[in-house]
Amino acid sequence: MKINIAIDGPSAAGKSTIADLLAARHGYIHLDTGAMYRCTAYKALQEGIALDDEEALGRMLQETKMKQTPDHRFFLDGQDVSEAIRHEEISRAASQVSRFAGVRRDLVKRQQEMASEKGYILDGRDIGTVVLPDAEVKIFLTASVQARARRRYEQDKEKGILTQTLEEVEHDIARRDDQDIHRQNSPLRAAADAVVIDTSDLSIPEVVERIDSYVQPWLKKGEQTHE
Ligand code: DC
Repeated sequence: MKINIAIDGPSAAGKSTIADLLAARHGYIHLDTGAMYRCTAYKALQEGIALDDEEALGRMLQETKMKQTPDHRFFLDGQDVSEAIRHEEISRAASQVSRFAGVRRDLVKRQQEMASEKGYILDGRDIGTVVLPDAEVKIFLTASVQARARRRYEQDKEKGILTQTLEEVEHDIARRDDQDIHRQNSPLRAAADAVVIDTSDLSIPEVVERIDSYVQPWLKKGEQTHE
């Protein structure tokens, strides 16, 4: 039996890393929905579309192909944008375009179509609340702004794409939290039936094990029904 797993939470809470590890463990597909908002922002900037022009963004998306490969590369209209969409400028722009209902409708539909077969782990902000309200396991990962800023800073340093001081990263994360939490359309919040895990003082393996303890009963249930 395969299930779907929703992982939501603020930026840099470790959602993507954790989702990758869980996906590898269970042979599931991890879909990084944030990358889709990033691709939208990237293309809008490339094409000179204003980030607050909801209608133009919606029209643009109708002509846009997005693809995630199993090894986590992102293709936008056939072009590999995996690294390009990680820049801080795109993080900010993605937060802006993700405010719009028209943009969300388009991307949510794509995400639901992809996950319709089960065996998916989606990470984002609205997975448990909007995209997959029936996901068998819903996790809300969070961590203090300081812990998340430090992780993002170290990650970017490792990747060689660091352009900010730690204080600047912290400031940006706090601002993005504020935008994501206070937007009108699908604001960032934990679903009523989500398990909230604060990762500030947990290691990655600890978080994976904690989540897996909610996944295992479903898999066992599936084994029993097959006996
Ligand atoms: O997870 P991320 O940093 O790659 O997300 C980029 C932006 O997209 C972030 O500001 C929140 C937004 N987002 C969203 O609104 N809904 C999602 N399901 C995923 C991301």
